[in-house]
Amino acid sequence: VSYSEEELYRPNFHFTPKKAWMNDPNGMFYYNGYYHLYFQYHPESSVWGPMHWGHATSTDMITWNEQPIAIYPDELGTIFSGSAVVDIGNTSGFGKVSKAAPIVAIYTSSKKLEGNDNWKQTQSIAYSHDEGKTFTKYDNNPVIDNSNIKDFRDPKVMWDEERNKWVMVLAAGDKIMFYDSKDLKNWNLLSDFGQGIGGHGGVWECPDLFKLPVLGTEESKWVLFVSINPGGPNGGSATQYFIGDFDGTKFTMDKEFETALNKEHNYWIDFGRDNYAGVSWSNATRKDGSKLILGWMSNWDYAQVVPTETWRSAMTIARKVQLQKNDNGYRLLINPVEELTNYRSTKYKKENIVVKNDTKIIDSKTIDLASAEIQFNISNLKEEGFTFNLTNKQGDTLSFGYNHTDKNFFIDRRKSGKRDFSEKFANHVSIAKRTSISADLKGTIILDKTSIEIFFDNGETVMTEIFFPNAPFNKLSIKPNHQEFVLDNIEANKLNFN
Ligand code: FRU
Repeated sequence: VSYSEEELYRPNFHFTPKKAWMNDPNGMFYYNGYYHLYFQYHPESSVWGPMHWGHATSTDMITWNEQPIAIYPDELGTIFSGSAVVDIGNTSGFGKVSKAAPIVAIYTSSKKLEGNDNWKQTQSIAYSHDEGKTFTKYDNNPVIDNSNIKDFRDPKVMWDEERNKWVMVLAAGDKIMFYDSKDLKNWNLLSDFGQGIGGHGGVWECPDLFKLPVLGTEESKWVLFVSINPGGPNGGSATQYFIGDFDGTKFTMDKEFETALNKEHNYWIDFGRDNYAGVSWSNATRKDGSKLILGWMSNWDYAQVVPTETWRSAMTIARKVQLQKNDNGYRLLINPVEELTNYRSTKYKKENIVVKNDTKIIDSKTIDLASAEIQFNISNLKEEGFTFNLTNKQGDTLSFGYNHTDKNFFIDRRKSGKRDFSEKFANHVSIAKRTSISADLKGTIILDKTSIEIFFDNGETVMTEIFFPNAPFNKLSIKPNHQEFVLDNIEANKLNFN
């Protein structure tokens, strides 16, 4: 059998552009029944180049419709990452000619300097009167100029309800800068954050700031996301987070959180290698106060050489972010959005499976493993842990599971199919330290053709990775790492998008 690239590698339900190169999600906002997703886009080629904002819309963050390009490069530069807000109060004054609230995009204008490899990066704005389809650039761009900071980009703007003003977080080298504004046009520098804090293996990018209720309490805390490249826990690009307070001027880490972070930096929104530059949807907080995010499902270590030619890269599944506090301190819980369950069709369920040696649990005759959601639960895991194997007839294997001895979750894609396109793609097993102390080990696994997203322990630890098998994976088995154990239950749902 031979397969086309399209058949083998185009995800069934994760967002991909029809053609050409994509990286970071940008400008995500919710308005009038639609979730908007913009993205770093180079329409002319399948590698990174002069950036535009591509655009897609969805009513549920799961099924996306690609729209025409929304923002094009101009004399100030190409259009790097940024955010968009619904200016409900028309603070910007851009809303005059239309009844609907103006949508205002805030992005980095990035211009290559003549004669050297540096970029001049400034912050610009543009507004839309047609719910985000097209944008008009502001006459007085840039709104934040820059004369000497080398990496100065990725503005993320939020409405600060308590203080009635806009707040922007911006990456500058390996720091985050905080600004505020009353009208989205005039910005004041407030403070910065980051010196000597968290991971500094690379440049800081794509920050996000938002407030989250602490589950089961009346308390709230502020969350700061900072993407970093390189310097991720398993190499290359990844997104770390900090928990603290924001007083309208300054972000201060929570003391307990700071102590825990300094002891061991275990605060990453995803420990797999393929979730980068994720930020939250503006204007789309859930009733319980949780936030919605999505990331770019790739890694700068190899993104430009993965074996697809027509298009490059997909986005992760949209996820819900909550904040938990227990004896281990603060920790984000990140899980797929509930909307995904609307696509469940065929169900497979089994209880009390005694796992002695490699035990088949599902094959593609039961559930299509290229479009599935699987939940498992193991109580009382005593010895050494377990390994799931996803295999095909070509002899490719993707392994993932848990090692009880060193308390690590893992994904091993070293034999998962094509991998010779980059030395960095499959040079080691990715691991994530388990933080939960629960005797029950639970997981939700989302499988698309070329990706796995695993949400362990109610979302305390997440791992996302991509892979390129030579034929679709069609069998899932599980084996003990040492001694037999009981898999209490497993439930698999085919996800149907027709
Ligand atoms: C992150 C990033 C951003 C930048 C964009 C350029 O992946 O490097 O910092 O704005 O990509 O495409």
